[in-house]
Amino acid sequence: MKSLMSSARDFFLPFLLIFTINCYPQGIEERMQWFADAKFGIFIHWGIYSLGNTSESWAFYNKQVSHADYMAQINHFSAERFNPTQWAKLIKQSGAKYAVITAKHHDGVALWDTKLSNLTIARQSPASSDVLSPFIKALREQGIKVGIYYSLIDWSHPDYPVFTCDSNRYNIPDDTLRWQRFLKFSHGQIEELMQLYNPDLIWFDGDWEHSANEWQAEKIRTLIHQHNPNTIINGRLQGYGDYDTPEQNFPVTRPNLKYWELCMTMNSSWGYRINDTIYKTPFEIVSILTDAISMGGNLLLDITPKADGSIPEEQGKTLNIMGSWADKHHEAIYGTLPGLPMGHFYGATTLSKDSTSLFLFLPAKTYGQIMLKGINSPIKIATVMGTNHGLHHKVVGKISWSPVPGLIFINVPMALSDSLMTVIKVDFDEPIKLYRGKGGLN
Ligand code: GLC
Repeated sequence: MKSLMSSARDFFLPFLLIFTINCYPQGIEERMQWFADAKFGIFIHWGIYSLGNTSESWAFYNKQVSHADYMAQINHFSAERFNPTQWAKLIKQSGAKYAVITAKHHDGVALWDTKLSNLTIARQSPASSDVLSPFIKALREQGIKVGIYYSLIDWSHPDYPVFTCDSNRYNIPDDTLRWQRFLKFSHGQIEELMQLYNPDLIWFDGDWEHSANEWQAEKIRTLIHQHNPNTIINGRLQGYGDYDTPEQNFPVTRPNLKYWELCMTMNSSWGYRINDTIYKTPFEIVSILTDAISMGGNLLLDITPKADGSIPEEQGKTLNIMGSWADKHHEAIYGTLPGLPMGHFYGATTLSKDSTSLFLFLPAKTYGQIMLKGINSPIKIATVMGTNHGLHHKVVGKISWSPVPGLIFINVPMALSDSLMTVIKVDFDEPIKLYRGKGGLN
């Protein structure tokens, strides 16, 4: 009897496991783990605005051009140089672990061939094909996690209340049936995206125009998780997302959040602009990336392909430079924990998951003696990453009767400096212990 039961259990166990995995959302920590480990993602704004003459969607909303002129740009969206595999390879080469692409921006134009509207690249532009599916496929082939940006706002839809900054089609309380019609369409598109692409991440935008109640945000979250309980949802769903997304803003003190992601442009525009040629340098972007991960965040860095599908040369170059740097220092970036609290080191830091290795990102082009404060664990060895070169260190000012640890000075020779940013790995025999006091002062 016993053996019959255990063989029945052995037989059913795999099915039970599959059932459990598919039907119950995992705990937030398990669901977010790949995201927390990834640190770096690429954002892609691509749409009819990518001809380079107007901003994405906002151009007609803010009446810089008429809606008709803005929409006419679709007649020139050729995608003739679009090479999805090349895009995905460049993203992989950059060191990014996930990508988020604008499936639909506030202008309502869908990059995929949605069955719910005619406003698609496939049906109205000279590209005349679904440009989203091949890219998602290419990302999967490169092992990059798939993120889909979807604008809740749809300023072109006849049933959407807002049209431009000073004109509304209607007010929701005056025509709730019309709003319900819009929600059916919008929820339908979200469902379609889930069915077609089963994304790892859904990145909503534009939630500010309506309340959670009006969007039916809880229902949106449920419908996503019915398809895939592991899909992560960004924070722009009126309180129903998984993590916060500060935009172009840099926290100065560490946010009290477990997960957050800074999204940032490479120049000053989200979509391609011919005249926007002032770019952040690779050093500046690496400084921002390391600052974000030091404080427990991710960086989602935007690229702006052109309407013909080519990626501006400057952007490709920067991604390649960042990628080589990230590859050399991968251990200090991916799968790490946020670094030391402020005060121990004047620069960004991260810790290995077991906290026995501390990574120091040297600011500017620092070399010579760098200082660590309040470290209560003896150093096993310090090395310059990518060189395996052991570094001399010295403990200064340790007083035998005091609980305050001495200062540690590590000597970094100039000759071992990285051309972009030098990273020092400091190993300890035990998980690092910190002294957080004020040196006996009040
Ligand atoms: C904003 C803008 C939008 C851009 C996005 C990226 O919310 O409306 O144009 O796509 O931020 O985070």
